[in-house]
Amino acid sequence: MHIDLSGRRALVSGSSQGIGLAIATELARAGASVVVNGRDRDKTERARASITSEVRGAEVTAVATDLASADGAATLREQINDLDILVNNLGIFGAKPVLEIEDDEWRRYFEVNVLSAVRLIRMYLPGMMDRGFGRVMNIASDSAVVTPIEMVHYGTTKTALLAVTRGYAKAAAGTGVTVNSVMAGPTHTPGVEDFVRELVGDELPWDQAEHQFMMDHRPHSLIQRLIEPTEIAAMIVYLSSEFASATTGGALRVDGGYIDSILP
Ligand SMILES: NC(=O)c1ccc[n+]([C@@H]2O[C@H](COP(=O)([O-])OP(=O)(O)OC[C@H]3O[C@@H](n4cnc5c(N)ncnc54)[C@H](OP(=O)(O)O)[C@@H]3O)[C@@H](O)[C@H]2O)c1
Repeated sequence: MHIDLSGRRALVSGSSQGIGLAIATELARAGASVVVNGRDRDKTERARASITSEVRGAEVTAVATDLASADGAATLREQINDLDILVNNLGIFGAKPVLEIEDDEWRRYFEVNVLSAVRLIRMYLPGMMDRGFGRVMNIASDSAVVTPIEMVHYGTTKTALLAVTRGYAKAAAGTGVTVNSVMAGPTHTPGVEDFVRELVGDELPWDQAEHQFMMDHRPHSLIQRLIEPTEIAAMIVYLSSEFASATTGGALRVDGGYIDSILP
């Protein structure tokens, strides 16, 4: 299977680091022109530079804007009129006792993790449908189906994204546009590395610290290690391709077997 995305334009929201940056890099490697995004202008510019240095000839545009707000989304639209591939990767997470999550915090999680995706889908889906090709992917999480007690607000927004995905896939029925969620599991990002260190300490070398974290805190993982961001990016590249034309309206797992279920 040779995946060639040349001629396609992709946007990855929240892609100046972590999983989003890996996705943008791999989409560029497959030939797509990519738009990277974050709020911090310098960081977003550094992400653009990192992709162009890693992928020869990559076409990368950096748009620094806050996609959790309607104004920020409008700023993006002024610069990027059409897309073939939209990856709603932007998402925030953090632990908080569920009885202490106030209304404003609930609203913030909903704005950032759900509404940001809905706005971009509303903006770009009609053009995709008119042109008869498009790929929308929403980055969900194992927390969408296994509500984590330490971050119920986060899990709730990821569950909502699965429904958003199904709804817009129905709206795009028969048009050549697919809409899917990708449920990522525990992934090796800088934020998660800090989290692992908080739990198991700084003494062990990284490999052993990761192993201990998985044994003590993520024992259900079938790969017994963190997922690398490029492993999630590989699924996104496949879903972005013509080969994935019959996969829509679903939630695909790149969770290392973490979700203890035989159904997807
Ligand atoms: N890491 C994991 O283990 C894991 C597991 C399952 C699912 N996920 C999901 O995967 C996605 C990416 O996670 P990650 O860990 O890679 O994230 P991350 O390292 O925290 O990166 C978040 C990115 O989003 C940008 N960002 C934050 N708020 C923004 C806003 N309002 N508008 C535009 N950009 C914004 C950040 O840059 P600025 O700060 O400069 O804006 C940064 O580039 C999320 O949806 C997350 O829920 C992650």
